[in-house]
Amino acid sequence: DWSMDNLGDVLIRQIQEQAGDSQVVCALSGGVDSSVAAVLVHKAIGERLTCIFVDHGLLRMHEADEVMAFYQAQLGMKIVKVDASQRFLNRLKGVSEPEEKRKIIGEEFMRVFEEEAVKINGDYLVQGTIYPDVIESGGENGAVIKSHHNVGGLPPNISFKGLIEPLRPLFKDEVRRLGESLGIPHKLVWRQPFPGPGLAIRVMGEITEEKLDIVRRTDWILREEVAKAGLDQEIWQYFTVMTGVQTVGVMGDARTYEYVVAVRAVTSRDAMTVEFAELPYELLKVLSTRMVNEVPGCSRVVYDITSKPPATIEWE
Ligand code: XMP
Repeated sequence: DWSMDNLGDVLIRQIQEQAGDSQVVCALSGGVDSSVAAVLVHKAIGERLTCIFVDHGLLRMHEADEVMAFYQAQLGMKIVKVDASQRFLNRLKGVSEPEEKRKIIGEEFMRVFEEEAVKINGDYLVQGTIYPDVIESGGENGAVIKSHHNVGGLPPNISFKGLIEPLRPLFKDEVRRLGESLGIPHKLVWRQPFPGPGLAIRVMGEITEEKLDIVRRTDWILREEVAKAGLDQEIWQYFTVMTGVQTVGVMGDARTYEYVVAVRAVTSRDAMTVEFAELPYELLKVLSTRMVNEVPGCSRVVYDITSKPPATIEWE
């Protein structure tokens, strides 16, 4: 039985019971959920926790460096970075179906973790699964909407004894309040969610370096401008989507035939239902001008004005 006041202590005790004196590996993504999960486990078992941060080559601009610097300097946790980008990108070559992408990324993640866990004799794997992930993956007898790669337990032939998922009963706002009560810096606790499969599900269809580059650069511009407008704390999630669609344009007096980038920005409490954010037209204007001028390959920008339901937050 828990209330918000004693939740941290209750979860820490549960982790201590489950882990015994085993070594534990945590899959750290830099997101709120895995960070709160890692800090809880770190409080529970200290140095027996090793965090692993996998760079799958599908991260946002500067993200890997930021995450590493932050965890080492501010949270004092043991953390290993694995650069697996080539491995992931090779496996994703020629794959365009969203659920197929998720499946491949989920499997590859598990393999990378297992390899690292073997090096430190890790028995348990910590994951930051939260309740909405469970529901949307069909976990509570519902329909599968998107198979979040971190739900569904361990593959049968993997060597961990089990999973530690301390956040499984919680909604996002509860995770954030818990994070604050554990003393995790505000900036991290209120970081916008970022999906495990990363930019793979923000590039429609087949993933190429060119398309990843377009989504990264436009996303960076969006984040800069949203922060400049002082809106970064008000919007639940904001990102760009590389639609894969090419359209005709004109630059100088030449015809162009380049990609459409979509801007997605939504407000929400729990990601289950969302409204599109009513971004000021001034901001939208700056976004389209900067993206088209500064990002080669992008010649048109559209704004996604769909709520959830019927549309999901991500496009894939
Ligand atoms: P959707 O797109 O289903 O997203 O409205 C709801 C929330 O979940 C995130 N999301 C994912 N997170 N693995 C994740 O870890 C996934 O495969 C995945 N798909 C969506 C999404 O960013 C939003 O916060």
